[in-house]
Amino acid sequence: MGNDTEYQAWRVHEKDGKYVGSEETCRVADLPANEVLIRVTHSSLNYKDALSASGNKGVTRTFPHTPGIDAAGEVVESGGAPGKSQQVIVTGYDLGMETPGGFGEYIRVPAEWCIEMPSGWDARRAMIYGTAGLTAGLCVDKLLRMGASPEQGPVVVTGASGAVGTVAVEILAGLGFTVTAVSGKKEQVGALKALGAAEVKSREALEASTRPMLKPVYGNAVDTVGGVPLAELLKQIAPGGSVACCGLVAGPTVETTVMPFILRGINLLGVDSVEIPLDQKRQVWHKLATDWACPKTEASARDISRGELDGALKAFLKGESVGKIVLDHSR
Ligand SMILES: NC(=O)c1ccc[n+]([C@@H]2O[C@H](COP(=O)([O-])OP(=O)(O)OC[C@H]3O[C@@H](n4cnc5c(N)ncnc54)[C@H](OP(=O)(O)O)[C@@H]3O)[C@@H](O)[C@H]2O)c1
Repeated sequence: MGNDTEYQAWRVHEKDGKYVGSEETCRVADLPANEVLIRVTHSSLNYKDALSASGNKGVTRTFPHTPGIDAAGEVVESGGAPGKSQQVIVTGYDLGMETPGGFGEYIRVPAEWCIEMPSGWDARRAMIYGTAGLTAGLCVDKLLRMGASPEQGPVVVTGASGAVGTVAVEILAGLGFTVTAVSGKKEQVGALKALGAAEVKSREALEASTRPMLKPVYGNAVDTVGGVPLAELLKQIAPGGSVACCGLVAGPTVETTVMPFILRGINLLGVDSVEIPLDQKRQVWHKLATDWACPKTEASARDISRGELDGALKAFLKGESVGKIVLDHSR
């Protein structure tokens, strides 16, 4: 491939302190000098992409920038493994943060960021899950490693209608857990029940209370929101249960006492999908492609074009995004 090859990308520019994204023509020659050049056919939308595109310096410091923390497609140049023509998935590490990401038709990344496409999958299917699905899988994996079981009581999923939440609900229901979904969207109650939630509670169920402990009604939880809801959740987990914590849409600060930890022996489990070793990601991708497959999430995923990115990313920032959204570069 010639270095003067051009491609289309959705790039964000900083103009007078404002961040504006639009489609533009880029050159492969300007991509970073890493080992593997990938023709990206699909990407996936995540809350972090919305943060990057809106100028959050904790995610992206340097503009202009191509966001997209997820990418899937075909290797077109490589010094070794993965080889040319191989279909691969890239999620996390620095992709879409400072390294140009999946909202462009090409990325060039280190070989150790690339995972071979699971057997029977294509790029679109992988990107229905994307980082959000991988994170949901990692949360479930951590809960199971701590011995979580349906017999301990219902498992709660917060931010249930979001990208991570929907996949968590479907996997946990498939594993036989009784799932309580917590969602701020009344109109999503039916969809969450269709994914397998036994009940859907409004966000008020986890509003701030002054007591250090509450009735232990839940066995375990996947928390995608942090902040006050996480603090309240910790008070309601039954003895020996665990909360896998991965997000901060309700806030990064969690005010708690040690009481749930020392009187009920509960566990707060941190989940990172970005910097963990590739092999840990590979194991969960394999689960998602086999035992933990989410056919309902797959059937309900929405495909968008680069031209629709702006609106879709703004919906994330307002907490209005629903389910899984795939960016299809051919649209
Ligand atoms: N640790 C990691 O590696 C990792 C990986 C991926 C994502 N994350 C984080 O996980 C979180 C969820 O990501 P996502 O992609 O699923 O985002 P998302 O699609 O926007 O989902 C978040 C959901 O949280 C709920 N929500 C939004 N604002 C809220 C508020 N102020 N209070 C309570 N609930 C609120 C909404 O669901 P309802 O309307 O149904 O309540 C929303 O759909 C984000 O913080 C993201 O950065 C972390």
